[in-house]
Amino acid sequence: MSRAVAATLEAIREALDEITERDEQLRRVVAILSKSRPNYTWTGIYLLDAGMLVLHNQIGLPTPHERIPIGQGICGLAARERRSIVVPDVTRDPRYLACSLATRSEIVVPILRGTEVLGEIDVDSDRLDAFDDEDLRLLEETAGLIAKVL
Ligand code: SME
Repeated sequence: MSRAVAATLEAIREALDEITERDEQLRRVVAILSKSRPNYTWTGIYLLDAGMLVLHNQIGLPTPHERIPIGQGICGLAARERRSIVVPDVTRDPRYLACSLATRSEIVVPILRGTEVLGEIDVDSDRLDAFDDEDLRLLEETAGLIAKVL
């Protein structure tokens, strides 16, 4: 793990320790993540509510997809299959639901407790193929930290 990713995870751990209110915790995690790596154009957290992924908070432009049923789009697929999904070129994936016309790549990481899906972290980039193993590591570890406070 790079030092930058380790430092971001430490900042997230500290924020989750210091803040007691859940909504504020989730806003703070998004704020830290959105600045942590180059090319995070849109960063958000969805929470699962009665089979629907509901946008909790985001940094980036408003999206028309504030509520996504399980199984729809990349977000719904990641929730249904309980696994992280990286889309290096959104124009080549017919499952992709467009949030912004400028988006070129996307990563979605489920927030899991055991096999139960609690929500997701979703990051979009205006750069093609913007996400690598470091992003996957950062977001999957962050999802594990979030799962502990939900
Ligand atoms: N692109 C997502 C929809 C959410 S917006 O990107 C914020 C999807 O395909 O599920």
